[in-house]
Amino acid sequence: MKLGIFGFGVVGQGLYHVLQQSNSIQAEIEKFCIKDITKPRSLDKALFTDDKNELLHNDKIDVIVELIDDAEAAFEIVKEAMNRGKHVVSANKKMIAEHLEELLELQRKNKVSLLYEGSCCASIPIIRNLEEYYDNDLMTSLEGIFNGSTNFILTKMINESASYENVLKEAQDLGFAESDPTLDVEGIDARYKLCILLYHAFGLITNPDELFTLGITKINTFDIEFAQKNNYEIKLIARGKKVGDFIDATVLPTFVHQSSILAQTKNEYNAVILESAFSESQFLYGKGAGDKPTGSAVLSDISALGYGYRYEYKKASRTNNFALHEDFEMKV
Ligand code: HSE
Repeated sequence: MKLGIFGFGVVGQGLYHVLQQSNSIQAEIEKFCIKDITKPRSLDKALFTDDKNELLHNDKIDVIVELIDDAEAAFEIVKEAMNRGKHVVSANKKMIAEHLEELLELQRKNKVSLLYEGSCCASIPIIRNLEEYYDNDLMTSLEGIFNGSTNFILTKMINESASYENVLKEAQDLGFAESDPTLDVEGIDARYKLCILLYHAFGLITNPDELFTLGITKINTFDIEFAQKNNYEIKLIARGKKVGDFIDATVLPTFVHQSSILAQTKNEYNAVILESAFSESQFLYGKGAGDKPTGSAVLSDISALGYGYRYEYKKASRTNNFALHEDFEMKV
């Protein structure tokens, strides 16, 4: 495989690193396309261009890896790549969540693969797991911690009494947070991931804006002290749960008792609990943010392209029928 990679930020550099360490993957980087060609880089200058057509119009490149920040620019790149018959790997949760239906159709029409394991929960192979193991009709619940930055912040605030501002800065310095950290702390990043996973878990296409979301910015000193005194952690929990014919889908900060498995998920780790009619509960755990954990998820997609893997096309249903908890108003 010859790769054309868009972006050389946190994830792009993480991917480069993990690719260098892997001997088994038959993939070679042809070129990186970046915004600022004048910025000094750690690699040979000849590997970089700021002209997207050098990648998209290059017949030698058969796989486009899209790792940029701007979701709309990413969508244009991914659309053109697929229309030109190239396979695509992306980690852009906003772009995928907002254009999922169109992307699935482009994939089907062009007979190419679009894989995006790196978009949800970084190192946890959650999409592959949902696709390969579970039957949409039998899924009953998907719930977990989908954002590493907020989990890092909440862990330090509760366990070390750290201040919100300091620990947010730390999450940014470590490369966990989005370039606009509002997306993390307002729960929007977790909402994009929930939106993508609702499709893979339940075959449901949703508009991310339809999912009720509350971030962590309204958590106050009283909440923190209450958690500390009563052996709770506060976790930003994203969930999609079948309630009769509805899916109850929310992103909400939640008190979780320290004895529970989600409370053990600390710092930038993510966790997902899946439930289906017969398998009952399954727990997945791993680093949910950072250059190398995300880079390794992207690498796993590149590797999967090597054996022709693609997500099975399913006729998804679109809904805006969401149930809310009976006691929802009280909880808010
Ligand atoms: N900002 C994201 C997070 C990065 O903190 O989880 C990984 O998607």
